[in-house]
Amino acid sequence: MEQAAVTPQTQTAPISVKRLGYNIAAEISGVDLSAPDDSQVSAINNALLENEMLVFRDQDITAAQFMDFGRKFGELTVSPFSPTHDDNPELIILDYHKDNPPRLTDNWHSDETFRETPPKATMLHSLIAPPIGGDTMFASMSAAYEGLSDQTQRLISDLRFLVDFTPFRRVFGNDADSLHKLREIEKEHPILSHPVVRVHPESGRKSIFVNSQFAIGIEGMKDSESKPLLEMLYAQARIPEYQFRLQWQPNTVAFWDNRVILHYAIHDYYPQRRLLERVTIKGDKPFGVEADYKGPFIPRREIELSDVDQPPSPEDGPLRMFKQSD
Ligand SMILES: [Fe+2]
Repeated sequence: MEQAAVTPQTQTAPISVKRLGYNIAAEISGVDLSAPDDSQVSAINNALLENEMLVFRDQDITAAQFMDFGRKFGELTVSPFSPTHDDNPELIILDYHKDNPPRLTDNWHSDETFRETPPKATMLHSLIAPPIGGDTMFASMSAAYEGLSDQTQRLISDLRFLVDFTPFRRVFGNDADSLHKLREIEKEHPILSHPVVRVHPESGRKSIFVNSQFAIGIEGMKDSESKPLLEMLYAQARIPEYQFRLQWQPNTVAFWDNRVILHYAIHDYYPQRRLLERVTIKGDKPFGVEADYKGPFIPRREIELSDVDQPPSPEDGPLRMFKQSD
């Protein structure tokens, strides 16, 4: 008797998403980032939209695999300023040690806001993590926006801020070659403006997009007006309830939505070494409330009991760990 052919079914287990902070961040497990399948990539993308910042542990992957994982979410971009890998300009190597102290990133920022189309997301992969220090802070600026009063939300809803690549100017020397290169980059990245309140193009969430690393003022305002307003908005990122603090271990991958997250690399590990790889994923032109967004709205997920480890219930007995199996 003829037997029906058995079709092998390749089915991967669904990823596990565990919320890490009240407003922000989730740890993803059950996936090998060197070979994620399409359903896992889709689930990771959904988790990113919902949690805004994701952490993956124990990902012993090569630089090529890390870049391939980044490409699952879009085209990788090349930074005009950061030190890149010789063969792969999309790969930034952040290698800080006793002879190369960390700099420039101990400031709340969204990566490359000076671009007309800043990256939609950033990924970091740690190769060497200092035993103490070197954490990275993340702030949900959608939660920070929701934390403002209705009056302030209305006050800032139509404002735009001016951006410049200000902090990177200091990496250029005063010699003729350096100044020529700086002028070329100025032509490529002129001062431009972005909405203070950005509407997320996929989740519909509103967020405070302005950040202190790249903003140089508010369009149409005098400095005496914009400075205190900007300082009030910058202060929102410093509220712990909107934050998550990542402690690096070797082979940790952080993946955050650069459209809605500000981050801050803490410079408290020098002269220890901290070695990370970074890729950024191409984004689109930020828009504000005036664009009348009609897409879906993805709400912030409420914390559920299943998100946290449960204490033993009385039925388990007081010493559940020693309970005999039947
Ligand atoms: Fe950054």
